[in-house]
Parts: sequence; C-alpha cells; structure tokens
Amino acid sequence: MAKRFADKLALITGAAGGMGLAFARKFAEEGAALVLTDVDQAGLEAAAAELRAQGAPCSTHRVDLASEKDSQQFAAQICERHSRLDVLVNNAGLAYGEIAHSFESLSQEKWLRFLAVNTVAPLILAQALRPSLARARGVIVNITSMASYVPATAYGVTKAALNAMTFGMANVFAADGIRVNAIAPGVMETPASRTQLPQGTFERVQSQQLLKLQGTADDIAALGLFLASDDARFITCEIVNCDAGSRLRGWRG
Ligand SMILES: NC(=O)c1ccc[n+]([C@@H]2O[C@H](COP(=O)([O-])OP(=O)(O)OC[C@H]3O[C@@H](n4cnc5c(N)ncnc54)[C@H](O)[C@@H]3O)[C@@H](O)[C@H]2O)c1
Repeated sequence: MAKRFADKLALITGAAGGMGLAFARKFAEEGAALVLTDVDQAGLEAAAAELRAQGAPCSTHRVDLASEKDSQQFAAQICERHSRLDVLVNNAGLAYGEIAHSFESLSQEKWLRFLAVNTVAPLILAQALRPSLARARGVIVNITSMASYVPATAYGVTKAALNAMTFGMANVFAADGIRVNAIAPGVMETPASRTQLPQGTFERVQSQQLLKLQGTADDIAALGLFLASDDARFITCEIVNCDAGSRLRGWRG
C-alpha cells in the first residue's frame, strides 16, 4: 500500500499511551515523522523508543497543555525547527476520575482547568502552530467524544464545547487552507479506559450500539489518518462519530 504520509510531519498530543500512541504508530507505519507531546515524560520516552526502533523519526516534548505559556513556547520551538507541519492531532484530554463523575459540586477553578485542557488547548496550540500548518496546508483532527451529545458531566460539557470549537476553528483556519475536523469516539478500549471505567460501562455502551463490537484505539486512529490524508481534501468542519451506531440508543426495541 502507498504510504500516505511519507515526507510528512505529524504532531500528536497525549502521545504517551492509549489513543495518542495508536495514532503515532499508524502515522509511523505510513511514513510520517512525528512530534510527540504529553505531560507524562516516562510514557513519552517509552513510546518514542518503540517508534524509533521501527525507524520513525520522532521528537518528544513534555508540555502541560493547561498552561497557555507552555503550549505557546512549545509551538514556537516546533515552528522554528519545522517550517512545515502537515498534521496536528489534538488527542490529549482529561477523561477519567472527577471530570467524568462530578458536575454541580465542582469549583470554578476545576471547571476552568478541565475546559483549559480539553477545549481551549486545541485552539491555543493550533493558533501557535499556524505558520507551519499554513505552509503545509495542514490538517487538524480534534478528539471529542460521544459523551459530548449527552453532556451530563463536566467531561461531556468540555467535549460538547470542543465540538463547537471545531466548527469555529474550521471557519478561521480555512483562510490558510487548513482543514479542521473532529472525531467523536464511543467507548474504546485503551489502557486508561480499561482501568478507569467500570466493566459495566463497556457492556452497557455495547448493548446500545447497533454493532456488538468492542471499539479500539486503532479504529479511531484509522479514521483520523483518513481525515488527515489527501483522500479527505474536501472534508472540513465535520464531527465524525465512530461509535458502532450508538446514535439510535433509546429508540430501538
Ligand atoms: N478511550 C475512550 O473510550 C475515549 C472515548 C472518547 C473520547 N476519548 C478521548 O480520547 C483521548 C485519549 O483517551 P485515552 O483513553 O487514550 O486516555 P489517556 O488518559 O490514555 O490519554 C490522554 C493523554 O492526555 C494526556 N494529558 C492529560 N492532561 C494533559 C495535559 N494537561 N497536558 C498534556 N497532556 C495531558 C495524558 O497524560 C494522557 O497520556 C482523550 O481526549 C479522551 O477524552 C477516549
């Protein structure tokens, strides 16, 4: 198969494991060089060692996306080093623990932190990386969630806002030929989801899917690579669901 990302550069946030690492592996298989970032330095180094052993050039950068200053400094460094950036995958996110359970009892400080990481950081990073993205007429893929359609938790609210943010980003970045789309995954098997979500969640969500399959990080990465590829050159400003048909839940007998 032709390598769709040969001579291209992809930057992936939250690349220390789970979905982010699945993206990194697939981009590497298809010839891309990689910029990997996360707050988890040890996880990043392990991911990079694996990818380099497979021949993929990659750099690692510990960045806390809750900090606008850190995100901007990191992006400036990347733009200085790489005049062209083909793909930005905004995958990093807070998904488990308090953000997924709490709502009315959360302090304003926590709300703002959750929104900073899950909703605003994708825009801050994209804007700061814009010079290199524009030169490549690059592509941005935001990872939202099926939970965005039922925002009964802080997590759902941050991801619903990221859907809206995706439309706004697509609108303004189109001026530079940059496409912006989002993927809304269902419950996918990752090391974090397996350890942080109750087993009952996997069974309940699967019972609501049209297809009785367990989704994986690779399902999301495969869709992300399509959206990032030239095959999707006419697609921007879309939220693409990848959830085995959960949309009809509650309406089927
Ligand atoms: N697994 C699922 O079922 C599922 C479903 C829908 C959406 N998602 C989304 O997919 C993405 C990845 O999920 P995952 O299951 O692989 O979880 P994960 O926790 O393994 O991945 C998230 C990554 O983001 C990083 N991160 C968190 N806060 C950060 C910060 N402030 N700065 C930089 N990096 C930070 C974490 O260190 C982690 O490596 C998340 O955005 C999540 O909301 C996951």
